[in-house]
Amino acid sequence: TDQSKIRNFSIIAHIDHGKSTLSDRLIEKCDAVEAREMESQLLDNMDLERERGITIKARAVKLNYAAADGQIYELNLIDTPGHVDFNYEVSRSLAACEGAVLVVDAAQGIEAQTLANTYLALEHDLEIRPVINKIDLPAADPQRVKKEVEDIIGLEAQDAPEISAKLGVNIDAVLEDIVTHVPPPKGDPAAPLKALVFDSQYDAYRGVIVYFRVMEGTLRMGMGVKMMASGAKYEVLECGHLLPLGMEPCKELIAGEVGYFTASIKNVKDTQVGDTVTGTENPAAQPLPGYRPAKAMVYCGIYTEDGSEYPDLRDALEKLQLNDASLSFEPESSAALGFGFRCGFLGMLHMEIIQERIEREFDLDLITTLPSVIYEITKTDGTVVLVDNPHNYPDPALILEAKEPYAKVSIISPPDYVGNIMPMCQERRAEFKDMQYLDTNLVELHYSMPLNEIIYDFFDTLKARTKGYASLDYELDKYLPSDLVKVDMLLNGDGVDALSFIAHRDKAYPRARRLCEKLKDNIPRQLFEVPVQAAIGGKIIARETVKAMRKDVLAKCYGGDITRKKKLLEKQKEGKKKMRSLGSVQIPTEAFMAVLKLD
Ligand code: GTP
Repeated sequence: TDQSKIRNFSIIAHIDHGKSTLSDRLIEKCDAVEAREMESQLLDNMDLERERGITIKARAVKLNYAAADGQIYELNLIDTPGHVDFNYEVSRSLAACEGAVLVVDAAQGIEAQTLANTYLALEHDLEIRPVINKIDLPAADPQRVKKEVEDIIGLEAQDAPEISAKLGVNIDAVLEDIVTHVPPPKGDPAAPLKALVFDSQYDAYRGVIVYFRVMEGTLRMGMGVKMMASGAKYEVLECGHLLPLGMEPCKELIAGEVGYFTASIKNVKDTQVGDTVTGTENPAAQPLPGYRPAKAMVYCGIYTEDGSEYPDLRDALEKLQLNDASLSFEPESSAALGFGFRCGFLGMLHMEIIQERIEREFDLDLITTLPSVIYEITKTDGTVVLVDNPHNYPDPALILEAKEPYAKVSIISPPDYVGNIMPMCQERRAEFKDMQYLDTNLVELHYSMPLNEIIYDFFDTLKARTKGYASLDYELDKYLPSDLVKVDMLLNGDGVDALSFIAHRDKAYPRARRLCEKLKDNIPRQLFEVPVQAAIGGKIIARETVKAMRKDVLAKCYGGDITRKKKLLEKQKEGKKKMRSLGSVQIPTEAFMAVLKLD
């Protein structure tokens, strides 16, 4: 392999600007796949991804391109996920590249993730090549968008290819631009091996397939390798290149190349994204920079609606974890919901994806508790505890200081909507940092905001209040002291553990009232009056009452129609099955779900 003919690049874009569509066109153009053979959006190869139109896992593909200069180039296209939850994976994929194609929608122009991804690419010193996509749209204005790219990002853009990925217009210009402007990789094939893991995937037959970029040295079939962060050692069973329709084994991959290896690895935890692969003989002295173990930011309890399916739930989580090093879980139990698991996620999207996959792929109906961030509590005896579950919140009398995580938030919006955005940030306890005009049509606002306020519905509310024009990006920043309280929910005087939550004192009251109302609306009348209360410590802060049932079920039938009577009794029995007893009160499972649903 001739290093000077290799080009490693990613495509970066704001969500929906056409990254996947352009990937398809590049693959098609390189003749790697017959167009009709090509399943649409090859790089997004999970059903769920396709349905949601997002890319969850990074993948790579090698293309052979016959360029205008008569030479054949090896182009490695490394796909990056498109959501803030997966920013770390994005950064590792970018670290495996020399260049990035920046796709900008010719009608939408620059949006928050356009900038966020550009900054990331710049941090990795990538050659960034702007491409203006969707020129077929009536609202397309390539000149305006090129000017935005020059004014806001400061990249030369007048010669940027103007393309329609959808219609396949001007795709060659993108490929020529890459070959001409993205530098070839460097790295000494004879040096000790250093390969960067940018993705890995579990396969039931072959074990984990590790996706890597060789930065230094050479990876050979049969050699002993060691993961420098996890310490795990293996013998390479197979290595090769990733083609659009499958894998192509080869003997070795040299510095600059992108490919895969397998080694009967049981779990992706041993080959985490960002780790460095080196040889067991002649190992590298230092790993590649930038490794960070996956870290969960949002936690919730997951239970099956049918308690007897608990083992199936464990099985589902274990299977999903084989392929997802960032998913964590441990058993927990709740008086109200029975046995379940406390699960950690990178963010809310990650959480929704996992829940959906459990329900869909494993056919389980779930109940999930309110999501929580990790709070940092210093106790009076000086110990610090991390609390991701209201259940473990220490007695207030033993708390010296409570802290909650804050995120740096960037919002980009047309100036017209700033008047809507500012109040909604204030409502969420955000601290305003600054506001900058990027040009006359766009402002960027910076806030420091509690992570807890972002994870609920911030993104959706922001979209709604700005007609979809504003975009959001955030990253975890630091822990700051906060006036936190734990709110307990009581039914007929008994605490319902699955409903308690931790919140800032100012937010605790409205949320507690709302929960009480929801409970009242969803709990069927009992034979006796049921008080629904919220309490902080021993103090009741909100109350509703579920009135007692006035007549029994059969009273309506006046002893008349016997079949109707039977039906009613049957119905009652059916209802009973799905009831959960809480001390003296029966709650239907649906009531739980209605109450726990975020709004
Ligand atoms: P994520 O994977 O969610 O980040 O999105 P993406 O950036 O990969 O965008 P994707 O390729 O899925 O395209 C988003 C939408 O834009 C799809 O409905 C595409 O059909 C459409 N689209 C992509 N390119 C073009 C184009 O050139 N013209 C028009 N009119 N639509 C396009």
